[in-house]
Amino acid sequence: MMTKRVLTGVTTTGIPHLGNYVGAIRPAIRAAQEDGVESYLFLANYHGIIKCHDPAMIHESTQAVAATWLACGLDTERTTFYRQSDIPEILELNWILTCITAKGLMNRAHAYKAAVQANLENGQEDQDFQVEMGLYSYPILMTADILMFKAHSIPVGRDQIQHVEMARDIAQRFNSRFGKELFVLPEAAIDENVELLVGLDGRKMSKSYGNTIPLFQTPKQRQKSVNKILTNLKEPGEPKFKEESPLFEIYQAFATEQETADFERALNDGLAWGEAKKILSEKIGAELDGFTEKYHDLIAHPEKIEEILQAGAAKARVEARELLAQVKDAVGIRTLG
Ligand code: ADP
Ligand code: TRP
Repeated sequence: MMTKRVLTGVTTTGIPHLGNYVGAIRPAIRAAQEDGVESYLFLANYHGIIKCHDPAMIHESTQAVAATWLACGLDTERTTFYRQSDIPEILELNWILTCITAKGLMNRAHAYKAAVQANLENGQEDQDFQVEMGLYSYPILMTADILMFKAHSIPVGRDQIQHVEMARDIAQRFNSRFGKELFVLPEAAIDENVELLVGLDGRKMSKSYGNTIPLFQTPKQRQKSVNKILTNLKEPGEPKFKEESPLFEIYQAFATEQETADFERALNDGLAWGEAKKILSEKIGAELDGFTEKYHDLIAHPEKIEEILQAGAAKARVEARELLAQVKDAVGIRTLG
C-alpha cells in the first residue's frame, strides 16, 4: 500500500483556540492515527514572526502550541513533530521557490489583499503601507513547508485552502520548468462538518484578534468565555435559528450529526440562549477536559517539550537534506569537477 503523507502547522502567535483545534489539530491527529499514513506536524514559528513582533509572545506561544499538540494525543513515535526554525533547509527551499513564483500569484493571496483593502478603506495613499515582505511572500514559505516533506494531504481550516492551492501551483511550475517530478502536488483536507469558527467579536476566531475561546480552561472559565458568544435579544421560548449566533457552528464542530440536528430543533423550539450556552460549554468540556492535565504538566516542564522537538527535528532534517540536495541539483547548484 502506498503511504499517504499528512502535514500541517500552527503559527506561534498566541494561545491555541477552538478554531485551531477543530480546523487543524484534531483532523491532523486523527489522520495520523490511520494505517498507511505518515505525518508531519509542526510549530510554524517563522510564520509567527510575520504577524507578531513580540518576542515574549512568540516564545510563550511556541510552548503553548507544542503542549497543545502533545496533550491532544499526538503520538511522537508515529509522527515527525518539529519546530519550523529547527529545519534551516526549509528556508533554503523557500528561496529557490521564491525564484520561480510569479509575483502576480502573491498579489492574489488573501492576507495581502486584506491588508491592501484595509489601507484603501483608511484612505492611505500607499496601498502597501505597513505591508512587510514576510506577509507578502508568506504563501511561499508555507509552500516550502509542504513540499519539503512531500505531503499529499494538508488538514487546515477553510481560510488556508488558497495557500495550499498556491503550493500546488508552485510545485507544478517547478516540476515542469525543471523537467523532474521532484515535488508532490498537495491537497487541502477540509472537515465537512467544520466551518471557520467565528470569535467573540464576530470576526474569524484568531490568535491575532484576541477574540478566542482557549482550548484549556476550567469548566467555570470556559462557561464564562462561552457566555460571551454573540447572540440576539430573543427571549426564552421564541424560535431561534442557527444563523443567528456563531454558537451553533461551534456546537456542530464538537457534535455528531444527530446531536447537531437535535440542537437545531431545540433552538427552533425556543431554547433559551443561556441554556444553549450551557449545553455548548459542556459539550466542549466533554472532548477537551481529558487533555487539560497533560497540557498543564507540559507547560510546567518545557524541557520535556524541548527534548521531543529536538528529536523530531533530527528525524526531519535527514529527509529535508536529501530533498534539498535533489532540488539544488535540479536548478544547477552543484559541486564543480
Ligand atoms: P490563527 O488565525 O488563530 O493565528 P493559524 O493561522 O495559526 O490561526 O491557523 C492554524 C490552523 O488553524 C489553520 O489550519 C487554520 O485554518 C485553522 N484555524 C484558524 N482559525 C480557525 C477558525 N476560526 N476556525 C477553523 N479553523 C481555524
Ligand atoms: N499558514 C498557516 C496558518 O496560518 C500555518 C502553516 C504554516 C501551515 N505552514 C503550513 C499550515 C503548512 C499547513 C501547512 O494557519
